[in-house]
Amino acid sequence: MKIDITSAGLRDLDLTKAKEAARALKEKTGRGSEFTGWTTLPFDYDKAEYRRLRDCAARIRKEADALIVIGIGGSYLGARAAIELLKSPRHNAGNRPQIYFAGNGISPEDLSQIIRLTEDKKVFLNVISKSGTTLEPALAFRILRQRLEKALGKAEAARRIICTTDRAKGALKGLADREDYECFVIPDDIGGRYSVLTPVGLLPMEAAGIDTEKILEGAAEGMSLFLSEDESNHALTYAAARQALQNDGKLIEVLSYPGENMRFFAEWWKQLYGESEGKELGGIFPASLELTADLHSLGQYMQQGRRILAETIIRFECPADDMALPFDEENADGLNYAAGKAFSEIFEAAARGVRQAHEEGGVPVTELVFESPDERTLGEMFAFFEASCGISGYIQGVDPFDQPGVEAYKKNMFRLLGK
Ligand code: PA5
Repeated sequence: MKIDITSAGLRDLDLTKAKEAARALKEKTGRGSEFTGWTTLPFDYDKAEYRRLRDCAARIRKEADALIVIGIGGSYLGARAAIELLKSPRHNAGNRPQIYFAGNGISPEDLSQIIRLTEDKKVFLNVISKSGTTLEPALAFRILRQRLEKALGKAEAARRIICTTDRAKGALKGLADREDYECFVIPDDIGGRYSVLTPVGLLPMEAAGIDTEKILEGAAEGMSLFLSEDESNHALTYAAARQALQNDGKLIEVLSYPGENMRFFAEWWKQLYGESEGKELGGIFPASLELTADLHSLGQYMQQGRRILAETIIRFECPADDMALPFDEENADGLNYAAGKAFSEIFEAAARGVRQAHEEGGVPVTELVFESPDERTLGEMFAFFEASCGISGYIQGVDPFDQPGVEAYKKNMFRLLGK
């Protein structure tokens, strides 16, 4: 991968603090170090459990018409990001098993729609919750589990329910043990938003037909580089640049990405940075912008609104797919000036145009270029953003691995519901 910070106006970026932070992460001496298992996960994951996970996914692929993945936040965003990027946001049209995501909100419309769409199908459930007590997935799981049990009986329903949760704690683990559901473990030392390479992300990805071994290989290679103190480590540069921009009064980082299939990657990124750094009244608010769709909605603000924005453009050197604009004799649409050009070339020109316009409009732009949207690169991207997020949080002086603020709304809600 490559990083370009020249347009962010950050000359002579000092990497000293970033290197110290990387060392603290690696040596597990920083704040929240008991939740830094993700730093070594791509090398030392439980191989026997991983084999069992692949067998389970093969069974789902063989038998299921649809898999409903129930989880919220870190318990679904990574898997959805991977499936939409490596397969398609339209994966369910024409593929099986179809993959639906439920329990990531309290919308009765969403859940009813999933129920309707899967009514006549052979359905499997993968319920994911580290705490095992989160309300949103618990609500969806109770409804979907009861429907399955009513339709198939308890024994067949149990065969089609897979739990990904804590090794020992939580209501979900208790229920799984009682009903004898197959279980996969979210390790104690890995929090929700860093859990994409645990069974949380790997099982839905494998069930969707993604080669997760390649993702893990890309992540292992990336993680050893991105936690190093080497000056050529781009994770140090990105983390130091973000903190320098924050110190310079930039309150919002907009991740601009090249198309709909990256939308959930941006959602994963937002959770990672938002929950890791937004604390102690600090942190940059993570936002996202889809190129070029959102230039026709948010573009005006980016160009001329309040100058509190920094932009990070993420793009791929080689897109997975391409097409060229054909020549048209009549040229009634006036497009022949672009005839023969590939869409990737046109996108490149658009991205350069955006970058130049935003720079001139006073928005510092960092550019991150990854090779191609494939499994290895996605593994590298997960490792890059996780490592740089840990480093960035340590430079900021917070614990990037807790989320005390998430509890506040839950307390109020449970009181109002009479729990
Ligand atoms: O990063 C986190 O820890 C959270 O966002 C969780 O992923 C989210 O709240 C879901 O929690 P759980 O997996 O315990 O249901």
